Amino acid sequence: MGIYSEEINKRRTFAIISHPDAGKTTLTEKLLLYGGAINLAGSVKGKKTSKHAVSDWMEIEKQRGISVTSSVLQFKYNGYCINILDTPGHQDFSEDTYRTLMAADAAVMVIDGSKGVENQTIKLFKVCVMRHIPIITFINKMDRDSKNPFDLLEDIENVLGINTCPMNWPIGSGKEFMGVYDRKEEKIVCFTANNGQKEVEKEELLLTDPDLDSKLMYGQRDRLLEDIELLDGAGNEFDLDLVRKGELTPVFFGSALTNFGVEIFLKEFLNLTSKPLAREAGDTIIEPDSDFFSAFVFKIQANMNKAHRDRVAFMRICSGKFDKNMEVYHVQADRKMKLSQPQQIMAQEREIVDEAYAGDIIGVFDPGIFSIGDTIVTPGQKFKFKGIPTFAPEHFALIRQKDTMKRKQFIKGMNEIAQEGAIQIFHEPESGMEEVYVGVVGVLQFDVLKYRLENEYNVEIIMNTLPYQYVRWIDSDSDYKTLDLASDTKVVQDFKGNNLLLFRSDWSINWALEHNKELRLREFDENL
Ligand code: G4P
Repeated sequence: MGIYSEEINKRRTFAIISHPDAGKTTLTEKLLLYGGAINLAGSVKGKKTSKHAVSDWMEIEKQRGISVTSSVLQFKYNGYCINILDTPGHQDFSEDTYRTLMAADAAVMVIDGSKGVENQTIKLFKVCVMRHIPIITFINKMDRDSKNPFDLLEDIENVLGINTCPMNWPIGSGKEFMGVYDRKEEKIVCFTANNGQKEVEKEELLLTDPDLDSKLMYGQRDRLLEDIELLDGAGNEFDLDLVRKGELTPVFFGSALTNFGVEIFLKEFLNLTSKPLAREAGDTIIEPDSDFFSAFVFKIQANMNKAHRDRVAFMRICSGKFDKNMEVYHVQADRKMKLSQPQQIMAQEREIVDEAYAGDIIGVFDPGIFSIGDTIVTPGQKFKFKGIPTFAPEHFALIRQKDTMKRKQFIKGMNEIAQEGAIQIFHEPESGMEEVYVGVVGVLQFDVLKYRLENEYNVEIIMNTLPYQYVRWIDSDSDYKTLDLASDTKVVQDFKGNNLLLFRSDWSINWALEHNKELRLREFDENL
């Protein structure tokens, strides 16, 4: 027990992940409603189209109906302090989702019951599984015709490679949706459409009710009994240990829009997840209730507010307490500092935070000093948190500005967007930034880059996509000038002066290795 344990034990920090349109915004809104963070259903959703939208702040997101960036919301419920990290809804931004997951202790996966696991989301959900944190599934839109619930579970198991354990079970769907059977309480919670506000008293039925047949639709009782037998006999048993290790996902069926099954989901979620998790820093483990403050930067976002041209570094507090006026030590930069304008984003508003605890996320004004993965601690501490890996880019383009007079803005824009981790940039050895090679994980990132350069930096660009598929860092001992390479292999440099090779295929990688026995290649930049 540390001096801040009481506050820290109340914290829950989770990321919410879904395919666009599965109902992430609606579910988040309903959760906020329970916390009293908003008063009226519809106020988060309504913001989506307004100028001040929180989570969907970029025009491009609206145009494409996807969320490109993530935001953080905090609310209180039943004595808990809950931080929700929103994530991009498209797999082209799965690296951003992964970084956000690094700051979370659990993930909620929202699936549209009529669609199941959708293609675009497979990669997103897979990064979730990679983190080995609890994943809780909410199968949404049961008030619409849904797929067979067994097929939905099979989908999750096969596609994502994680076992499922339904906590409740739907009775019908769409017009025939009668409610869910709560497996723990062994009772049926009847569906009442409550379009918006807090959950109302629900009618409950027992399986032993002699009138059950007439209270449900034709055949539903028998079907339910069969389903329960099958689940009890052949389904995965609930095991909290496996849930905590991210090997078993508890599944809840419900309907966010009609506010059915949301509060019970929230309550169970709080039981299924734990207080903020300890974090690795080299060989030591930093416990959240240590008395000293520590945090790491997991996300940097420039121009969140275009009028102010600000840049915000988001930090996850890993231990201790943060105080607005405290002095901290930025380990990577080796300097003491105060964190400027620390803020928390509460529902729609940003607020200055006076204090925050392990598990919380704060955004601080960043004049360009932070990088993703940086560690901030109480002066006197010197450890570094385990870094956040970068994904190897899979798509490449050569980019230059249309108007050469805009060179300064072009360089600034490219550098800043690269610092955010939204793109990786390279150039020809011994040349400047006339032309920049850009690598991304998903092609939509190119669209975002083009859009942001035009809108935030006022620079139009010419973009030629390139046929490369792989990038490899050359071990510093090898001299790139003497390498014998296939004609379609390209030497480039990153902006720290490291040499890399761009390859079109596995074949060219093997060719390079066979023709240069001394050559050592790495998939990642170790210095990141
Ligand atoms: P997202 O953030 O995951 O992209 O999804 P979002 O919550 O915006 O929901 C996408 C659409 O699905 C919305 O309809 C929303 O009202 C609807 N929806 C969400 N949950 C449920 C549910 O449980 N049942 C039903 N029937 N619909 C649900 P829309 O028409 O795109 O928006 P709007 O016109 O309702 O605002």
